[in-house]
Formats: sequence, structure tokens, C-alpha cells
Amino acid sequence: MKILVVGGGGREHALVWKLAQSPRVDHIWIAPGNPGTAKLGTNLPVQADDIDGLVRIAQEHAIDLTVVGPEIPLALGLTDALKAKGLRCWGPSKAAAQLEGSKVVMKEFLRRHNIPTASFRLFNKAVDAHAYIDEVDGPLVVKCDGLAAGKGVTVAKNAEEAHQAVTRIMERHEFGRQAGAQIVIEEVLKGEEISVFAFCDGHNAVLLEYAQDHKQVFDGDEGPMTGGMGAFSPAQVMKPRDEDEMVRRILVPTMSGLVHEERPYVGVLFMGLMITDSGPKVLEYNVRFGDPECQTLMMRLESDLVNVLEACIDGTLDQIELTWNQATAVCVNLASGGYPDKYPNDLPITGLDAPEVAGNATVFHAGTRDKAGQLVTAGGRVLSVCALGANIDEARAKAYAACDAIAFDGKHCRRDIGKRREARRAR
Ligand code: AMP
Ligand code: GLY
Repeated sequence: MKILVVGGGGREHALVWKLAQSPRVDHIWIAPGNPGTAKLGTNLPVQADDIDGLVRIAQEHAIDLTVVGPEIPLALGLTDALKAKGLRCWGPSKAAAQLEGSKVVMKEFLRRHNIPTASFRLFNKAVDAHAYIDEVDGPLVVKCDGLAAGKGVTVAKNAEEAHQAVTRIMERHEFGRQAGAQIVIEEVLKGEEISVFAFCDGHNAVLLEYAQDHKQVFDGDEGPMTGGMGAFSPAQVMKPRDEDEMVRRILVPTMSGLVHEERPYVGVLFMGLMITDSGPKVLEYNVRFGDPECQTLMMRLESDLVNVLEACIDGTLDQIELTWNQATAVCVNLASGGYPDKYPNDLPITGLDAPEVAGNATVFHAGTRDKAGQLVTAGGRVLSVCALGANIDEARAKAYAACDAIAFDGKHCRRDIGKRREARRAR
């Protein structure tokens, strides 16, 4: 089988790594890929948002299955464009992918289908948003409507921080004019955050094991939001009662709501939930795998991924049972100095062949580039360093030993990935 994987980050390297283990796969092309995926297949110089270019290469290489990593090609309709040419693509249609593209659309969907979420107000004028913030005069969450690489959300401790967020989004247009034309302001939910993933075939859904991300840049969940600094799986934060409620009040109504709206969901549905005292509530939907959660899940998934992805497309997920390695996976992201703000690129990376790395970890490339034979940094999140262990301490020890052996100027990472449970116990 010939596979095309769309994207070029750590998540896509992990998907390629897992797909390459399937006896059913003959060759993998990656667009655009990265130096890590180049070792497992053939990178093609087509960007993930170039829909015409992607359709062209899928036709040229007679691709049997296209697997889409990031949200942008999905929001732009890659699945539909490939389908129109008779090609199979794993990922939601453009209509179903709109759940992630706009926070306003997402909140309205949640309201329409009575799915638990933070109470909210929508604004399209900064002056009205400022007036509302003054009225509430307390903690609030301010969200930019459009895609902002996970950085368009501010959990404001007070009115002043909320005002600043509105100014950045609506007046300074820091995330672009269109993305910031509307905002959502919502109540702050208290509880434990968890990423829940479900493979979906339009009508059936199969839950994956749980994983937890660490979104803030510094230890102890301090500092600004990032795309994700590290993850671990399994994550034991859901009591059976919460899980039951999540399926009944969130997963099932989401799937049936989309069917009802004539845009059944095929692919992986990513539900960012807060487990509050009054049960799980939706923070956000994403129409793709989380990055870096995907890395930990691919480390643990034993089932043949090709079979699972095909079952999503064929509507036969009811015949699939996922099997998992019972070990714990930890993923620590090594980031460029300055990330999530400005950072330099093109800094040489060394240490990837050190014994602490080779003997302990699987390293997925995220923001790297090959510069005349030298691996250099080329992004905010540079490498996803993953390890499996019999328990979380063992997995952490292996991952951090590998992290310490890898070097580039300005390298930084959180030192507390996987320590959530201890932090919770201490509270
Ligand atoms: P989102 O992109 O909407 O998931 O928001 C990004 C992050 O902001 C989430 O992963 C949470 O950590 C945090 N967040 C978003 N909404 C809320 C909320 N209503 N209450 C508390 N934290 C939130
Ligand atoms: N790790 C969170 C995300 O991919 O959005």
C-alpha cells in the first residue's frame, strides 16, 4: 500500500513511524515532512496548505491512503478534494472540520446540541467586550475566534488581563484581522484538563487511551500557552462516572449532532475537556490528533494503524478493538530559546546519536531542517523526545536522560512533564 502523510511536525513523524511498522505499507510519502520522516519514506516539497499540490502528488504517486496530520488542510477541504478524484483520505470533510476552525462556530454547535461547556458570550466589537469585562470584574477566558496555533486563548486572572487580551486580538490584530474579528469570552472552569481522542467513522466511535498535555511553557503550568510542551499516557484523571458522562453527554451528542447537520465526522476527534466538580465539560474540539499527545499514543498503540484508519473511512469501526502497550509513555518537547515568542532558527543540533538517546528514547523531529548535511533548528518546538517505561518515573527518567544528551543553543524544556499526579496530590 502507498501512503501519503500530510504535515511536517512531531505528530506527523510519529504517525509515519507507526504506519511504517504496518506490514501492509509498501512506501510512505510525506508532504512536506522533516528530516525525521525522510528516514522512513520520501519527503515531497509540497506544503500542507497547498490543496491542489497535494491532490496532484496523490494522483502522481497513485496513493492508496492519504493521512492528514494538521487541521489547516482539513479546514481547506483536502478530504473532499481527494474524494472528488476517487482517492481515499483519512480526516474529516471540510464541513465537519469547521468545528475547529472557529471558536464561535464551535460554541454555537455546543449550545445547539446542549453539550456541557463553559458559559460564554460572543463579541464582534472591542468596546462591547471591554464593557462586559468591566461588568464581570473577575477572572475570565478570552478566546480569539480563528486559528492561532494554540496561542489565541488567555485565561485572565483579572479584568486587566482580560482587557489586554481583547486589545491584542481585536485592536492590535495580533492573530490577523479575520481570526480576531470575533471573540468568545467565557467563564473560567476549574478542574483537571484532559485530552480525549476518539477514532470516528461517521457513526461509530472508538475511544483511545487517555493522554495529558502540558500547555504552558514553564514548570508548574506557569507562563504563556504553547502548542504543547510535553505529554504522557495513560493519564488517570477520569473516574468511571465522569467517563460515562463524557460518552453520554459529550461524545454521543457530538457525533449525532454532526450526523443531524449532514456532516458526519470521519477521522480522529480530539476533545479537550475540563473535568469539573459538576462533570466533564468541553473546552474545545480539534479535528486532528493533538501534538504532542499523538507521540505518546503512537508509542503505545499496538494495533495496526492502517487497519484502524481504513475502518474509519469504511464505516467499520464497530469491528475494531484497539490494543495498547500497558507501559507508560512520556514525551518531552525540546524548544527553541524564546519560544513561544520569537526564537532564532538554523542552530546546529547535536547529541542525537548519544547512547543516552539511542538506548532510551524515540526522538520525533518537529522543527528541524537539514542544512548542507547538518541538522539545525527550524521551529519553536524542535524535537519530541519520547520514552516508554514500566511506570511514569521510569519513562520520565529515560526521556530526560535523552533530553540532556541532546544540545542546541537556547534549548529549553519543562522538567515536570508527567508530574501532574504528584502536583495534584500536593494541592
Ligand atoms: P482552547 O484552545 O479553547 O482549548 O484553550 C486553550 C487552553 O486554555 C485550554 O487547553 C485550557 O488550558 C485553557 N482554557 C480554555 N478555556 C478555558 C476555560 N473556560 N476555563 C479554564 N481554562 C480554559
Ligand atoms: N497539544 C494540543 C494540541 O495539539 O492542540
